[in-house]
Amino acid sequence: MDRPDQTPVIRLADYAPPPWRVTHVDLVFDLDAEATQVEATLALQPDPARPAAPLRLDGEDLELLDIALDGQPLPPARYRVDATGLTVLGVDAPCLLRTRVRIRPQTNTRLEGLYVSGASLMTQCEAEGFRRITWFVDRPDVSAVYTVTLRADRTKYPVLLSNGNPAGAGDLDDGHHWARFVDPHPKPCYLFALVAGTLGHLSAPFRTMDGRDVTVRVWAEPADVPRCRHALESTLRAMRWDEKRFGRAYDLDVFDIVAAQDFTMGAMENKGLNIFNARFILADIDTATDADFEAIESVIGHEYFHNWSGNRVTLRDWFQLSLKEGLTVFRDQEFTADLHSRAMKRIDDVRLLKSRQFAEDAGPLAHPVRPASYSEINNFYTATVYEKGAEIIRMLHTLLGELTFRRALDLYFARHDGGAATVEDLLDAMREASGRDLAQFARWYDQAGTPQIAVTEAFDPATGDYTLHLAQHTPATPDGSEKQPLHLPFAFALYDADDRRIATPPDTDAAQRPGLVELTAAEHTLRWRGLAQRPLPAFLQGLSAPARLRYDYAASDLGRLLRIESDALVRWECAQQLVADAVLRGEARPDARPALIAALGALLADTTLDPAFVAECVSVADVWSLADRCDRIDLDLLWREREALLDDIAAAHADLLAARYDALSPAALGGLAPACIAARQLRNVALSLLTRRDPSARRAEAQFAQANTLTDRLAALAALLRVDAPGAAAALAAFRTRHADDPLTTDKWLTLVVTRPQPDAVDAVRDILAGPLWQPRNPNRVRTVLGHFARNNPVAFHRRDGAGYALLFDWLPELDRINPQVAARQLTALEPWRRLDADRAARIEAHLRAFAALPLSRDSADVAGRLLG
Ligand code: PHE
Ligand code: ZN
Repeated sequence: MDRPDQTPVIRLADYAPPPWRVTHVDLVFDLDAEATQVEATLALQPDPARPAAPLRLDGEDLELLDIALDGQPLPPARYRVDATGLTVLGVDAPCLLRTRVRIRPQTNTRLEGLYVSGASLMTQCEAEGFRRITWFVDRPDVSAVYTVTLRADRTKYPVLLSNGNPAGAGDLDDGHHWARFVDPHPKPCYLFALVAGTLGHLSAPFRTMDGRDVTVRVWAEPADVPRCRHALESTLRAMRWDEKRFGRAYDLDVFDIVAAQDFTMGAMENKGLNIFNARFILADIDTATDADFEAIESVIGHEYFHNWSGNRVTLRDWFQLSLKEGLTVFRDQEFTADLHSRAMKRIDDVRLLKSRQFAEDAGPLAHPVRPASYSEINNFYTATVYEKGAEIIRMLHTLLGELTFRRALDLYFARHDGGAATVEDLLDAMREASGRDLAQFARWYDQAGTPQIAVTEAFDPATGDYTLHLAQHTPATPDGSEKQPLHLPFAFALYDADDRRIATPPDTDAAQRPGLVELTAAEHTLRWRGLAQRPLPAFLQGLSAPARLRYDYAASDLGRLLRIESDALVRWECAQQLVADAVLRGEARPDARPALIAALGALLADTTLDPAFVAECVSVADVWSLADRCDRIDLDLLWREREALLDDIAAAHADLLAARYDALSPAALGGLAPACIAARQLRNVALSLLTRRDPSARRAEAQFAQANTLTDRLAALAALLRVDAPGAAAALAAFRTRHADDPLTTDKWLTLVVTRPQPDAVDAVRDILAGPLWQPRNPNRVRTVLGHFARNNPVAFHRRDGAGYALLFDWLPELDRINPQVAARQLTALEPWRRLDADRAARIEAHLRAFAALPLSRDSADVAGRLLG
């Protein structure tokens, strides 16, 4: 394996077009789990503009069987095979290269290239998996037209799928059969896919806005097919929505989605044949939570939307990853917002952004949305590339407005259809459609770190002059680059003494329109004259830019803003700020706690509000979100103070919580209608608080017994476990029996076991790791047992004696040999380690150093190296 010091660094600045292109590909697979043969015929063309370069193709773990050039067997003197590829000597003109190789799906535990999941064979090629299938120019700026023929045993693999339109099928001798596919759309090889297996499906017809009849199918293992209904319906909704909102239609006769129990990531947008982690497909009310249903619709949308933002227009190079991911996340966010509650969706997205991306930007793994260099691209599928990337697109949407933004995207798609684009190409389309100068805005892509906007104010009661001084500053990041001011849309409002919004625009040098100024300089001043009283300001409505606000609100002002502000996100942020002040600055801010408790009381009492919104405000941020606001993290203190606050809230509002719980019950027991989901959300927040004061956990036990949704059953079980209720063990066992043979529901059960917030959860994790439920080759299981433990159980994982760390590091070397990407991801849970207390930091550092000294994959060596920085 690669040692870190030998790992080449790849730089954006070194980009050069490919010296050779592949224009047509003909692939013939003889599929078999143990040994598959791949025959590839590539039509190759040298770049006429460049002096003859050697023909070099990427390839890994390929066993050469045959090689021929333009129909003639190639003598060994004409080519060389090494660990990373194939070089053909003495060619400088267009030619046809045919290779035949053997690959071994069964032993492919990395789940990149062709691998086995359950009884099926399937592929994963993004980012660089295709080179594990055949020799190829494996880079996204090489697009080719594919014809694919699959041959396999008819009994073992009755279903054969690949990209594009079906182009024939039939029987062969010896119980084999074949199927052929032609994909007329040129694509880079990372979008190649095939599936062979015993699968069932649900299907539905769809007619596109331009009159194409499409068959949409969702495939899963036969027993799971009934749980594909929600995924199928979500697909149809996504297809219609992209036509309506963005004018984008589907472009093949079939659209297939396949569920895989073994999958490293969430899902993959292969052309016409999406392959999904089963957890983003399978759902019914008994095995999926309300949050799962929403996530499924959103991920289905995301992968489908890639058909334009990613596939029809792809990437010039992997540095441009956010060009497809940021844009597609923005599109999937809008999909959910248009179909459900826009306000709640924004709160969910901002919570994710702040808890994951802001933390990433503040730690040793910080990087720009478009990194300048990488040693392993798989480590850049991050919250920064996805979530911050989506925020950049959202800011463009804010700056341009819906209509101009839509025209700009139309221009981008039209101009680059079938091509490979860069961030500059997208910004050019935005600039041309709007006439705006986006040169400074482009810094968002290349500058790491979350900008802070410090706001100070002055009010002169004599003149009524009110000034807001806005200063932006981006803290240093590990790359040491100097930070420049960013161009950012800053939304704000001022409220007068009667809670009315002041409409007068400020006096300022910043470009502005109602309620929004565009910050471009390091400092700006906004000035109003003749106000009767000091107004109450609100900032960054809708989080108009991915920035941290520094403004010292009095607790009473936060309470008031939480009542009167029109933007739901700002209201929610007020609650978050009160929580943070109460937990982190209790002594300096003694009025934060009573203000919070009063505000939550008002929210709980107001039955005209969306219960989902109330639930979001009453849910106290987890310790990591609170830690994100601290320079040094005192984990024990944070945990203690947070628990004390929860107890106080539960005590102060016991009656109100009980009343809401009871009143919401009939709706909560209903189905999947939005009102029922919202009722369950608030009711389960109430249950969790109520159970703190009721050691017998009567309500939680009753809810567990009566639950008719997984959401309610899990919430009850979590409440029982948190207080170590007498009935907890029995309920845990009952849940296990009920869902014993489904891997996804088993993962839910395991999540509860490994996140039980007691120090002895370490013993439970140790038992799991020694038992039959531990399946280190299954990424979902690893994420569940070690990932949830490390990220979501601060009490046990960060136990002072180091027992939690030891469990993780016991397994990491083996996990790294099995699946480097999965191993490297687990390491990222240690991101904030340097800010922990000296004892914990020393233990983690010792583990990290010992781990980094092992022979590691590029993925893990890179992450461990940057964590140690
Ligand atoms: N491109 C996928 C998505 O975001 C993510 C992915 C990356 C999946 C790499 C597999 C491998 O939609
Ligand atoms: Zn994506």
